[in-house]
Amino acid sequence: MAAFHPALQAITDTHARDVLIHLHGKASRQNISLAVRFATQLPRLLRGRPLPWARLEPKLSEMYLALDPANGVFCYLLARAMQARRIVEFGTSFGVSTIYLALAVRDNGGGIVIGTEMVPEKAAQARTNLRDAGLDAFVDIREGNALETLRDIDGPVDFLLNDGFPHFTLPVLKLLAPHMRAGAAALCGNAAAFPADHADYLAWVRDPANGFQSMKLAMKLAGEFSIKAV
Ligand SMILES: C[S@@+](CC[C@H](N)C(=O)[O-])C[C@H]1O[C@@H](n2cnc3c(N)ncnc32)[C@H](O)[C@@H]1O
Repeated sequence: MAAFHPALQAITDTHARDVLIHLHGKASRQNISLAVRFATQLPRLLRGRPLPWARLEPKLSEMYLALDPANGVFCYLLARAMQARRIVEFGTSFGVSTIYLALAVRDNGGGIVIGTEMVPEKAAQARTNLRDAGLDAFVDIREGNALETLRDIDGPVDFLLNDGFPHFTLPVLKLLAPHMRAGAAALCGNAAAFPADHADYLAWVRDPANGFQSMKLAMKLAGEFSIKAV
């Protein structure tokens, strides 16, 4: 069991919260092996150069690469504030972020999180984790390449969590954009972590001609974010 992150206080479903704490513990125990896998890339990262994802990806197939509790709770609160009922998640991994999104959809009165994951073992374990959290009725986890699995989206999308590997983030956004309602949000955390690998994504999403208005989240404004829950 991992330490209780203060942000998790916002999650009132104590059963799902316990599952999250357990999974965050497992994810954080991979931090050292993850750092080892990225260590050789440090010079490129420091120089702001793109990373060789084709070489890195096979080494990440057993890694959680999960949102930390603060980012997960932020996604939950954002989806609650938007009253999101249909959420798409690119990059489900073991389902940590999916649990936060499914909680939001359930607490908004019901709906669906369409998740997608290309590693079959991860997709299977994500389904188990969502069931353990009591949220399997609110997810549709699709196994395979997002560019195929997300072709069939039935109904308007409120929120896209774009959390897969960099070279797919822009194609996924372009695939989803026609399904996103006016005011829908797209969040791509990796664009800040690996900006050089998201140059095309950032240029496209920041160009109002493409139908989006966009900015990098400003950390100075990252004060207390609250929603009125009831
Ligand atoms: C950063 S992890 C996602 C972490 C997850 N959102 C969480 O917070 O728990 C990215 C995941 O995207 C998956 N992925 C990468 N490219 C993909 C693709 N083209 N289609 C489906 N899944 C993909 C990877 O296998 C990996 O598990």
